[in-house]
Amino acid sequence: MRRLLVTGGAGFIGSNFVHHVLGHSDAHVTVLDAFTYAASREALAGLPGERVRVVEGDICDAGLVDGLVAELAGAEGAVVHFAAESHNDNSLDDPSPFVQTNIVGTFTLLEAVRRHGVRLHHVSTDEVYGDLELDDPARFTESTPYRPSSPYSASKAGADHLVRAWVRSFGVQATLSNCSNNYGPWQHVEKFIPRQITNVLDGGKVKLYGSGANVRDWIHAEDHSSAVLKILERGRIGETYLIGADGERSNLAVVRMILEQLGHDPDDFDHVTDRAGHDLRYAIDSTKLRTELGWEPTYTSFEEGLARTIDWYRDHDDWWRPKKAAIEAAYAAKGQ
Ligand code: NAD
Ligand code: DAU
Repeated sequence: MRRLLVTGGAGFIGSNFVHHVLGHSDAHVTVLDAFTYAASREALAGLPGERVRVVEGDICDAGLVDGLVAELAGAEGAVVHFAAESHNDNSLDDPSPFVQTNIVGTFTLLEAVRRHGVRLHHVSTDEVYGDLELDDPARFTESTPYRPSSPYSASKAGADHLVRAWVRSFGVQATLSNCSNNYGPWQHVEKFIPRQITNVLDGGKVKLYGSGANVRDWIHAEDHSSAVLKILERGRIGETYLIGADGERSNLAVVRMILEQLGHDPDDFDHVTDRAGHDLRYAIDSTKLRTELGWEPTYTSFEEGLARTIDWYRDHDDWWRPKKAAIEAAYAAKGQ
């Protein structure tokens, strides 16, 4: 790959991927990002101008997308598609931008890569598979049936189906990946881990939905990026790869860990109104990615990765503080 178009490259994971690609390949990168509330110019600051170009625009803008994808044709180019509305709670308040960006946006990209014969990697989520019981010995695999619960996960499931249909019906050269919950630097303070870290740093209380029994399978964003690059380089066209790092923890355990690492009483949190339709447990079996492509995560200790993430938020309060009050006010209005 010589040239990549990275959609959503100013978001949490997309920006991590841009840094990762620059450090682990000689590719040139164009970022296409609408710079919604979730984007961050700071996350892309200081990158070499001769290798990175940032275009502000919408993936639903067919003319813009067509021009950027046309540049990749015949240039060993590929599209890596991260752009999305990504927060479940927001999708419960207003599903409309989720349908627009996640489904119509993916359709727009698919039509462009179809016209120009360009490779696509579509980044998706484990939430398309619904949830598991706490004591279910099974984990999600590439053949688990789709059973999304929220407007967010349903819109991602819709996008995945479009990608597979374009592969089968039109011969589009695409791969897909479904990853578990990411954590790490530059994650928006609306999300669980950054919200709780910054609540404590801000002198507020940690907010746990419901009982906190819900389980998420945590992976560091850096490991998600290395997996996506591996799939781009070695993945088989038409295939799906599940990405996970064996990081299952209950929300209660994560909250207690954050409080302890910050030197607070681990039981000093509030139980708040639960999320509607709240998925109970996600768990990824990433055997295919590991055995076929030889991928391994580098963050094997969640406790250590969390400690480094806490340090990062402590050192970057100039970045998150301006966003914090409005996010907390919106949660408070919902009893969360
Ligand atoms: P994010 O919300 O932090 O970033 C999304 C980015 O997409 C933002 O920069 C935003 O400006 C951009 N964007 C939104 N709408 C756009 C549009 N119409 N046109 C162009 N750009 C647009 O999201 P994230 O957490 O970094 O997630 C990135 C991708 O990874 C998403 O596809 C998400 O579904 C997937 N994913 C996320 C996780 C996770 O734990 N965060 C796990 C698995 C998969
Ligand atoms: O599984 C992958 C998905 O992980 C991605 O596709 C999504 O883009 C990403 O946002 C994430 O979805 P979740 O809904 O699992 O993440 P969130 O950070 O919103 O919440 C994680 C868990 O923590 C979930 O069980 C809800 C709970 N929670 C969340 C918040 C914001 C709380 O208990 N308190 C909170 O304040």
